[in-house]
Amino acid sequence: MKTIIQTISGFLLIVAIIGGYITSTGVYNIAATEKHWLITEKLIEWMRNNSIAARANALEVPIMEEAEYLTIGAAHYDAMCIICHLAPGEESTELAQGLYPQAPVFYQRKSLTEANAIETQAKAYFWVIKNGLKMTAMPAWGLTHDNETIWAMTFFVQQLGSMTADQYRNLISMHENNGDHEHNHHDHNRQNEHDSHHHNGSHHHN
Ligand code: HEC
Repeated sequence: MKTIIQTISGFLLIVAIIGGYITSTGVYNIAATEKHWLITEKLIEWMRNNSIAARANALEVPIMEEAEYLTIGAAHYDAMCIICHLAPGEESTELAQGLYPQAPVFYQRKSLTEANAIETQAKAYFWVIKNGLKMTAMPAWGLTHDNETIWAMTFFVQQLGSMTADQYRNLISMHENNGDHEHNHHDHNRQNEHDSHHHNGSHHHN
């Protein structure tokens, strides 16, 4: 018994010394260009997926009209996400190339076909979009967007896998022509000025 306790204490002491050395001396290279070991990467990924699943699985996936989430989702995605996650037909950006971990390129991911898998993925995507991911570049959009908008982005992202560049651009321009939205307010106003000769009082600049 005594030797077991001594062995464990000795082991913990060595771990503490190594840990203290690594954290205090700067030998650990925090650069984004210095990749993790494969084993570290696998461990982080495993922890990440379990952490997301533990919080996302209890979510209720709402029903939303396809036309609604496609246009709302596309407009938000185009305004806030493509610099990291890219869009169909778009080359990689300088920012995206410098990220570590890299942001997934959704339009290169195959869309899922099995209903349960789609639902599980929707919950996980929603949770990540709302809460962000610590120690990565993925921001928490829930601080500035309501759940409905985040679900629209979630469903939109799930559709990106089968979307062509033309379809993507159509959705963006559909929203610019119909919708009234904070991210393209200016374009929308400009559009109105072209299209309509009768201005009404509700239209104002900001
Ligand atoms: C500044 C860069 C950046 C921006 C902007 C950004 N993301 Fe991310 N996002 C990331 C990174 C990096 C990851 C991957 C993190 C990881 O590996 O764990 C990620 C992960 C995700 C995931 C999880 C994917 C998966 O496979 O689990 C989703 C969903 C997502 N982002 C959606 C969005 C949406 C929607 C937007 C826009 C509203 C957005 N992101 C904007 C960098 C970004």
